[in-house]
Amino acid sequence: MIVRIAPSILAANFGAFADDTKKLADGGADYIHIDVMDGHFVPNITFGPALVKAIRPVCTVPFDVHLMIERPEEYVELFAEAGGNLLTVHPEATVHLHRLISVIKGAGAKAGVAINPATSVAAIEWVLGMVDRVLVMTVNPGFGGQAFIPEMLDKVREIDNLRQSKQYRFEIGVDGGISEATAPLAVAAGADVLIAGNSVFTHPQGPATAIHALRTAANG
Ligand code: DX5
Ligand code: ZN
Repeated sequence: MIVRIAPSILAANFGAFADDTKKLADGGADYIHIDVMDGHFVPNITFGPALVKAIRPVCTVPFDVHLMIERPEEYVELFAEAGGNLLTVHPEATVHLHRLISVIKGAGAKAGVAINPATSVAAIEWVLGMVDRVLVMTVNPGFGGQAFIPEMLDKVREIDNLRQSKQYRFEIGVDGGISEATAPLAVAAGADVLIAGNSVFTHPQGPATAIHALRTAANG
């Protein structure tokens, strides 16, 4: 299994997004994870499609846009136009999830679904055949730097079992509290995309070394 590393620019220097995005790309990131927050679905506000568009020319690494916003159906086309390659939405934030996934694909992007720690796999069961990624939140969304919730490993296992038994092709991501310590646990449970903010940007040797260290830990 190939494990992919998706550093989150939530932990970047907000005054230097372009430079920090380039550092991640040059450091071997497989995706750039972009956390969009609206102050309603989560108690924090980050940025919109204009930021995605502004940093798009910096690299060719796929942009993985995590929409932690209410009514994502009103914004997915804008994020696809701005350069988002994979758009991940929360079932907790929309009524017509199935339709929304079709809209994302119609806009030319890949589609992901993310579930909060309190949300059961059942909430996404009927769209699993349509999505390119299932994102298991391993913290409550809204902020970087929170502690990994170990109980979520059971959820990753449950989704991986479904993937195998039904021969689904989506990747499984984990988001929140991912470090060299927690990465191997997530991968052993079935995750193949590791989203990491703080552990990448606070690494004393910089993001490139952090990405390499996460990859090594994941494949260890
Ligand atoms: C949390 C975000 C995460 C965040 C993870 O709401 O969805 O992507 O950047 O940050 P760390 O890796 O610091 O837990
Ligand atoms: Zn995220």
